[in-house]
Amino acid sequence: MCGIIGVIGNGPVVPRLIDSLKRLEYRGYDSAGVAAMVDGSVERRRAQGKIRNLEAVLAEEPLKATIGIGHTRWATHGAPTTVNAHPHKAGRVTLVHNGIIENFAELKAELAAEGHIFESQTDTEVIAHLLDAELKTGRKPLEAFKVTLDRLTGAYALAVLIDGEDGLILGARRGSPLVVGWGEGEMYLGSDALAVGPFTQQISYLEEGDYVAVTRDGAEMFDASGQPVDRAVVQVSASSAMVEKGEYRHFMEKEIHEQPDSVQHTLSEYLDLVTGKVKPQGVDFAAIDRIQIVACGTAFYAGQIGRYAFEKLAGLPCDVEIASEFRYRSPAVSKTTLAVAVSQSGETADTLASLTWCKAQGLPTAAVVNVHTSSMAREASVLWPTHAGPEIGVASTKAFTAQVAALLALAVAAGVARGRINAAAEAELVKALFESPRVIAEALRMDETIRAVTQELSKATDVLFLGRGPMFPLAMEGALKLKEISYIHAEGYAAGELKHGPIALIDEETPTIALAPLDDVFDKTASNLQEIAARGGPVIMITPENAPDPHGVGIRRIDAPDCHPLIAPLVYAVPMQLLAYYTAVQKGTDVDQPRNLAKSVTVE
Ligand code: AGP
Repeated sequence: MCGIIGVIGNGPVVPRLIDSLKRLEYRGYDSAGVAAMVDGSVERRRAQGKIRNLEAVLAEEPLKATIGIGHTRWATHGAPTTVNAHPHKAGRVTLVHNGIIENFAELKAELAAEGHIFESQTDTEVIAHLLDAELKTGRKPLEAFKVTLDRLTGAYALAVLIDGEDGLILGARRGSPLVVGWGEGEMYLGSDALAVGPFTQQISYLEEGDYVAVTRDGAEMFDASGQPVDRAVVQVSASSAMVEKGEYRHFMEKEIHEQPDSVQHTLSEYLDLVTGKVKPQGVDFAAIDRIQIVACGTAFYAGQIGRYAFEKLAGLPCDVEIASEFRYRSPAVSKTTLAVAVSQSGETADTLASLTWCKAQGLPTAAVVNVHTSSMAREASVLWPTHAGPEIGVASTKAFTAQVAALLALAVAAGVARGRINAAAEAELVKALFESPRVIAEALRMDETIRAVTQELSKATDVLFLGRGPMFPLAMEGALKLKEISYIHAEGYAAGELKHGPIALIDEETPTIALAPLDDVFDKTASNLQEIAARGGPVIMITPENAPDPHGVGIRRIDAPDCHPLIAPLVYAVPMQLLAYYTAVQKGTDVDQPRNLAKSVTVE
């Protein structure tokens, strides 16, 4: 997902653009650039790779200005080269863009036929040429901008500078978030609150189809039909303290260690520790007969864990599907199905599209999201927030456990609403959930033991993760964590599936990580591990210290805190995350911004 910043300031603008772009690095990018208004004409500086490369270019060729725009690009159209880096310029127009223009090829052909020369392979450059052509007809900037936007099909967040328009930045959003920041005699545009966080906490969130003219005096906003609108100015808390690494080496490490707090904060949204009861959740669980969860990646695994709880505790059938599959297969749904999107960013294109589709079919909708002002948060009828705070590491950790915590709490609420959980059981389950932050903190003390095994693990080329029940989706999440930050191939499997094929993979070079809480299938999991050990496969068994010893050489135990079965997915997520983290550190990969990945995939 690209990052955008625009500043109409009073002091040197370039250092401020760079500061903001550094806060957007977490989104994942492969090139960066800035543009600034110098004596009425816009100049660009761009570089492939990290922002430090852009800083080197600026050191050679500084830009002295008070108005500018900046961008970090995650390549969609065209390789991650300097030529394809934003900002793009055509004639009087210089702009940065997040999203995908789906009709860019036909627009490009039309413009080329009119004599326009393109320097890049990007869809973005087409917008610059289109707007420049509209300006050449004599249209004023705002009118020319609106005409241009109406020609575009696809998703965009835009920030635009125009030669000769010294005090103006144009902005627009459709399918990709953009905020207006309000300063003292200064104004800002950014991809999100974090982007403008160094300058202001007074934010207006543009809505779908909005476009805006930002000047030193403020912002003139218009909706998709061109009508003037006023979007509320809200105070946000994206304080810099929330996004600094503190004493940790990586954001991911910091965020793993924030989980006792983030899970606690999230649970308090749904449960009342004092009364031992669930809080009302905006959905009548007695009036629905099915839940359809849609999500991607880690959020999908959180949804799968939620499914076990909704069915076991509430007797509520629950389907969980990868959003990119769900949205294109013409699913059979009914209006008594509650559609639930699970997402950290609330902007993932496939999940958002699935949620929108369900809403259009007349289903009640809810969204479990960490960004409470995101598109999904505003699209769903009911917002079920997680309170993980800004998650900067691309690999999702505290957002994952916050999603699981929310879903477990909601499953208890559903059980109570459907008369399947009496007051005593409710109190017991609420208590168990509220114990999870402490038990998670205990699990964090596995740090050193986990680090010790990762020296070996980092040499593996293939790793198996096994679990039963809710530990099965957690095993898949553990495999994803290892894959995405250490680049080691890994697969998560239901332990009971081992004999149906995967056991053929077992040899001395293929470690197996097993999640074995003291639940009702512990013995079955233990016997699966003996089958592996008997074939010489190295096994790392994560299990409570009071669990019986499995027989079999080559099984290495790592003691986890014992816990109520309901919260085992929250507790065992920690060793999974630490295993991936320390293995990646051993391998020296870019833990917070792994190759090829972006924090939120806002394109299909
Ligand atoms: C998880 O570590 C990955 N970063 C990725 O799978 C992520 O969970 C997925 O892209 C969904 O993102 P979302 O939660 O913002 O929708």
